[in-house]
Amino acid sequence: MATEKILVIGSQGQIGLELTQELRTIFGENNVIASDVKLPEIDNGLFEILDVMDKNRLNEVFKKHGVTQVYLLAALLSATAEKNPRFAWDLNMEGLFNVLNAAKEGIIKKVYWPSSIAVFGPTTPKQQTPQYTVMEPNTIYGISKLAGERYCEYYHQKFGVDVRSIRYPGLIGYKSAPGGGTTDYAVHIYHEAIKNKAYTSFLNAETELPMMYMPDALQATIGLMEAAADKVKIRSSYNVAGMSFNPEQIAAAIRKHIPEFKIDYNPDFRQAIADSWPQSINDSFAKEHWGWQPKFNLETMTEDMLNNLKGH
Ligand code: SER
Repeated sequence: MATEKILVIGSQGQIGLELTQELRTIFGENNVIASDVKLPEIDNGLFEILDVMDKNRLNEVFKKHGVTQVYLLAALLSATAEKNPRFAWDLNMEGLFNVLNAAKEGIIKKVYWPSSIAVFGPTTPKQQTPQYTVMEPNTIYGISKLAGERYCEYYHQKFGVDVRSIRYPGLIGYKSAPGGGTTDYAVHIYHEAIKNKAYTSFLNAETELPMMYMPDALQATIGLMEAAADKVKIRSSYNVAGMSFNPEQIAAAIRKHIPEFKIDYNPDFRQAIADSWPQSINDSFAKEHWGWQPKFNLETMTEDMLNNLKGH
């Protein structure tokens, strides 16, 4: 079997940093090329400066490394996208077109593209949100992700492109910082709990959202990409779930380790975004089709996050 050459686009982002490390452990340092619009702070392996909107440069990188698989993670997230909607649309869509078209032309063989719970909107059922349901997102980010999902399925059906996708919930990890999401509070809260024993949340106490610990997200992502093609029956994007909680509940989980921890609330524009999203997700298709199974819950994640952050 030919060796896979994997390109991670957006390798300096919250998912990219951790996914690149994990892919290198599995597939070998020389088979995973990191790329981003800016140079990494620490030089740790094959890297290319790459703006995914620059089609010529993209094809140059594909050719130079003989890339077979792409993980396309470059995007503007929900909160930043609301501040710069035109650029968010251009980046999120143009990047996807460039990569899907390369796959259509046979230049690359397999594509991973992340979608999000942001594809759902205020008219979607909030509890145990099904795979197939009302989808009327009211954020630019969500609109771009839903359009992207439709494009992925279209490219699979019309042109046989092997594209795979997950609708991520909020992602929480200690190795990388989130940037511009509505679920970012659930990462910041751990840092502040250790530093200041206090946190002011930009979402109110009752805002329940679906979340996932990064090791589970990596396992889901690579698990889906490594699944046999015939098991990947959904080519728009799969619902996956880890856990669900609100700011009050995560604060309570932290207090089991840091009893003095205090939380207060000062909701901003991100509250409306969060209020438009599901509270919990039904992921039975991912479990059934390719064996998805999360490992972490709020308690085990909190223990692991705090232990690792204290060590840093
Ligand atoms: N975590 C993302 C955000 O908050 C959702 O995909 O924007």
